[in-house]
Amino acid sequence: MPLKRSWQRLMSEIASLSAIEILDSRGKPTLLARCDLADGSLGAASLPSGASTGAAEAHELRDGGDRYAGQGCLRAVANINSEINKALAGRRFERQAQLDKALIELDGSLNKSRLGSNAILGVSLAFCRAQSAQAGLPLYRHLARMADLAPRLPRPMINLFSGGAHAGGQVAIQDVQLVLPKAQSIRHTLEVASDVFRAAAKLIRSRYGMRLLTADEGGLAPPCESSEALLSAAVDAILAAGYKMGDEVALTLDVAATQFYEDDCYQLDAEELSREAMIARLENWCRDYPIVSLEDGLQQDDWTGWRKLLQRLGGRVKILGDDLLCTNTGRIQRAISENAADSLLLKVNQIGTLTEALAALKLARQAGWQVVISARSGETEDDWLADLAAGWAADYIKVGSITQSERLAKYNRLLVLEQMDGLRLEQR
Ligand code: PGA
Ligand code: ZN
Repeated sequence: MPLKRSWQRLMSEIASLSAIEILDSRGKPTLLARCDLADGSLGAASLPSGASTGAAEAHELRDGGDRYAGQGCLRAVANINSEINKALAGRRFERQAQLDKALIELDGSLNKSRLGSNAILGVSLAFCRAQSAQAGLPLYRHLARMADLAPRLPRPMINLFSGGAHAGGQVAIQDVQLVLPKAQSIRHTLEVASDVFRAAAKLIRSRYGMRLLTADEGGLAPPCESSEALLSAAVDAILAAGYKMGDEVALTLDVAATQFYEDDCYQLDAEELSREAMIARLENWCRDYPIVSLEDGLQQDDWTGWRKLLQRLGGRVKILGDDLLCTNTGRIQRAISENAADSLLLKVNQIGTLTEALAALKLARQAGWQVVISARSGETEDDWLADLAAGWAADYIKVGSITQSERLAKYNRLLVLEQMDGLRLEQR
């Protein structure tokens, strides 16, 4: 009986670890890793990859050379097939943390640059899936047990408009996202998001004479003259679709300010703003638009600016750190101690193992922070992220738009968890 097995202690002997190179949603190589256990259980996982990456992220190993413009993953694949497999096949692990520790020790570098964070995370995730199969548990339950948390559904942040590095940079800010603060189900959330998306597409067509063009995460990428025009278009689309601004549908922003910080200034659209002016601008946006969360409002090393931002806007909107924190406990601890943020954006491939990502989540939770579990701009059709966000009881999940199957794989998995596994989207 699967249920009975689930309460037993697991001992998982690795029979073999293997990997192949596959392509992500941008047509760029990534890898799929597989873990076969001695009892016949197996798990596989494919990996996402970012475009607006933080400087403190673990090192993704790429081949260089001419093939795929240097972006190939054959070295990382070979590291799994040879060195990692040789070191770990035949070894037995009870817990994810033991496997991840063995991987970190084998790599031996500070940022996973020797074997590659992609090789290491591929094995970490494939082993996790194999163990969940061995336990006879759905992945989210296995992850919840690992984290000692009760699973629940995360509230989606859904990409409506894209700019910045995800859309060719017409507008400086990277993501304008929809969030339904009070929605009681994923099903309803997606229905509303679809209404707003259609209204936005119509509006863009009439305002800019442009057909529907989508960016890396499936959001619309209109040629707005400024970030403010993009924000106004989002509000207009919400109203045109017949929803109330704020209560029914609110906005979250990923400013991704590191991407337009150059020569000691924020190059926001046609303007050059100092730190102070940028903070004032963010404050104006939060006053003028129904924004509830502000991600990377300032660049990744502007700790002084982040402290000021939290002082000025904390309590009114969530100050969410992506590039600032890089799912790294050292940086999160600094942000807690210095009062520089109050929410964590968690991306497991920023740090490179599930165990370290869980430590980041636990640290953020201890400080009373909100947690957003996020996809990357380059994704695959794999849906493990939905199980991770539910199993680790994230407040929000950030996946991208409601177009493109690499995004929908995650939303559709949330629909299954809601309607077939009985998980709920709770008010919090
Ligand atoms: P990335 O962007 O996956 O391209 O790094 C996502 C984000 O900034 O949240
Ligand atoms: Zn971001």
